[in-house]
Amino acid sequence: MKILVTGGAGFIGSAFVRLVMAETGWEVVNLDKLTYAGNLENLAEVESSGRYRFVQGDIADQAAVGALVAETKPDAIVHFAAESHVDRSIISPEPVIQTNLLGTFRLLEAARLNNVPRFVHVSTDEVYGSLPAPEEATEKFPLQPSSPYSASKAGSDMLALSYFVTFRMPVVVTRASNNYGPYQFPEKLIPLMIANALEDRPLPVYGDGMQIRDWLYVDDHCRGILAVLDKGRAGEIYNIGGNRSLPNLDVIHKLLALAGKPESLIQYVKDRPGHDRRYALSSEKILRETGWRPKVDFETGLARTIDWYRANAPWVARVRSGEYRNYYERNYANRV
Ligand code: NAD
Ligand code: TYD
Repeated sequence: MKILVTGGAGFIGSAFVRLVMAETGWEVVNLDKLTYAGNLENLAEVESSGRYRFVQGDIADQAAVGALVAETKPDAIVHFAAESHVDRSIISPEPVIQTNLLGTFRLLEAARLNNVPRFVHVSTDEVYGSLPAPEEATEKFPLQPSSPYSASKAGSDMLALSYFVTFRMPVVVTRASNNYGPYQFPEKLIPLMIANALEDRPLPVYGDGMQIRDWLYVDDHCRGILAVLDKGRAGEIYNIGGNRSLPNLDVIHKLLALAGKPESLIQYVKDRPGHDRRYALSSEKILRETGWRPKVDFETGLARTIDWYRANAPWVARVRSGEYRNYYERNYANRV
């Protein structure tokens, strides 16, 4: 089995590549543009393997994607590459549309023209928008995205599914809840709060901090994607949830307690525009059809994640140098 992974130098993609390399005998080709979020350090443990190859390139580059898919003839494409952060999509939507919509289109076309037998499109629960309690989105829920990021993911989901309906291409879509774990870029809630807390810097809480997210440990997500790659039915959507809904403030209280840092670090700041209040999803379908369920409970996963950030301060320092500072300034300066 040979798979083409896109975005394999990012947070979830690199966890997936490490897992596949460790637990299967498959060949992996990793196509990644290496944007601010892509980091080859995340793949140090697999780079010398003869079964692994890295190719730097843009999924929106038609010629490059077409040539790579034709040359590698993968048995499956697992598509992670995306501009993945809501706040960045608000500050600067252009690359989000370019990569998430046009890039996904280019990949689908290359897969179609080369008869790739399997295509897993990795998406998010954010496409369902904000849900009132106690509702949980099933895969049949309407799409009501709020941000340029979630709208671009919803659009790419629809496009991917249209390739099944129109061309009978064997596409499967996964929609996961909020991931956390080692190697996550410190722009998202959990790694940002851990990185700041470990340096005794303020923790910027948007609005009242009572927004609810469902938390999924990254390795559980990757195992869910493997389950869908193996057993998912073509043309179907599979939710992948962590089964652990928490208000942001609860996450932050737990994190501060585990890190041994004071609550006084919490700083309430101006809310995110269009901020979704609550995400919640049902993972009943993936459990029923593949037997997958999340294994890592939140407290264990969070403690493991904090330990990783503590032990990998130089990684954090490197990813925070350069571009990160400009982003942090733009996103947070006018919030306080
Ligand atoms: P990330 O931002 O950490 O990594 C994205 C990767 O894609 C980076 O390596 C980047 O270099 C690469 N990339 C970006 N644009 C590219 C392009 N044009 N061509 C090639 N490579 C490009 O993202 P992540 O958090 O690992 O998310 C991966 C996928 O999972 C995304 O599709 C995202 O929508 C989805 N997802 C994420 C979460 C989450 O909580 N992080 C939850 C559900 C779904
Ligand atoms: P985030 O990690 O950006 O994921 P999502 O895509 O679900 O928005 O944010 C998770 C939650 O944390 C969301 O409700 C916004 C909130 N948040 C803060 O309060 N402060 C922050 O600095 C960040 C990055 C997020």
